[in-house]
Amino acid sequence: MRVLVVGGGGREHALCWALRRDAASSSDDLTLFAAPGNPGTTTLATNLHIPATALDELRAAVRTHDIDLTIIGPEAPLAAGLADQLRDDGRAVFGPTAAAARLESSKAYAKEVMRRAGVPTAASATFVELTPALDYIREHAEPLVVKASGLAAGKGAVVCKTREEAADVARAMLGGSLGEAGKELLVEEFLDGEELSVLGLTDGDRVVLLPAAQDHKRLGEGDTGPNTGGMGAYCPVGIASDQLLARIRSDVFEPVLREVAAQGSPYEGVLYAGLMIMPDGTPSVLEFNARFGDPETQVLLPALPRGFTEHLADIGMGRWSPPARQSLLEAERAAVTTVLAARGYPENPEKGVAINLPTRAELGEDVIVFHAGTYRDPDGRLRTAGGRVFSVTGLGADVPAAAAASRAAAERIQFDGKTWRRDVAWREIQRAGAA
Ligand code: AMP
Ligand code: GLY
Repeated sequence: MRVLVVGGGGREHALCWALRRDAASSSDDLTLFAAPGNPGTTTLATNLHIPATALDELRAAVRTHDIDLTIIGPEAPLAAGLADQLRDDGRAVFGPTAAAARLESSKAYAKEVMRRAGVPTAASATFVELTPALDYIREHAEPLVVKASGLAAGKGAVVCKTREEAADVARAMLGGSLGEAGKELLVEEFLDGEELSVLGLTDGDRVVLLPAAQDHKRLGEGDTGPNTGGMGAYCPVGIASDQLLARIRSDVFEPVLREVAAQGSPYEGVLYAGLMIMPDGTPSVLEFNARFGDPETQVLLPALPRGFTEHLADIGMGRWSPPARQSLLEAERAAVTTVLAARGYPENPEKGVAINLPTRAELGEDVIVFHAGTYRDPDGRLRTAGGRVFSVTGLGADVPAAAAASRAAAERIQFDGKTWRRDVAWREIQRAGAA
């Protein structure tokens, strides 16, 4: 099989890693490409120098390299219709149509789908004009969350302690601070609970959930500082009992997928629900993503048993039969990933800094280093490309052991300005200590 992974971050490195791992224990040959990939994918795949947003070039590459299956990592090409175009060309794709991907690319649309499907989510209202937005803010209790409706690369949601702050953010967004993405915005009730990332594989009709993961959105230890794309993640998560996951499946995934299908373009691929688990145990949806999470993928794929990527191929090829009577895939080990970001992330990340990366043998067998923002200079020296630089995954029998492996390796990878959290999975470690 000839497979193309679109994207070049830690998530896509993890997808290439899992595809290779699974191919090693299968009788099928795998020829793997990544576009654009990164220095980490070069040992697993042939990197094609095509940005993930260059749709025409990607389409041409799929033809030239006679790709059997394209797996689309990031949201931008999905929202732009890459999956639709490749399907029009008669090619198998893992990833939703642009219409179905609106669950991520338009938060206003996602809210509308949830309202119709009766899915629990924070109370909110949508605005394209400032005056009614300011009126709404004045009439509602603080804190409030102001969210750009469109894709804003993780910068679109601002938790505002006061109404004044919410009004300032609304003014800025509608004034164009996030470009088109913020020309429509949502003002939303603040929910106080524990966040959970739950991903489901689906062919538009049936759905199988992956183990729950927990992301660490804030830049600083103790969940302080600005929101980022994610500074670390772990799985499995203690609060995600089978009972809670069954409820998330029946109250969130099934009704949303039914509603999207009823609108004419069934959702195929992986659907990511960002949830707030309220103190009474009720799950409430914060957002949907039309793709694998980053960095959740860097813990989910190593924690899941071999053979996981066959589901992606089968869904893409339209021949999926979900595991019989199994609505959940279970992790066979714990995984914790620590993100190493560049100095200045997320606002103004530094680039071009030389990296000292120990070898795999030096880091140990319980560690996988996924590249995200790295490149090789003309002399072959590894350097930072800004943003999130690595995602360092540690594995273990339980979360504390996996966290220890991840942190020890994160400590040993060196570059000037390395910015990271030493407390990824702190909630789970606390729970383990209390048990
Ligand atoms: P979103 O892009 O909608 O997932 O928002 C990004 C992050 O902002 C979430 O992961 C939460 O940490 C936070 N957030 C978003 N909406 C809310 C909300 N209604 N209440 C509390 N926190 C929120
Ligand atoms: N980790 C959050 C995301 O992928 O959007």
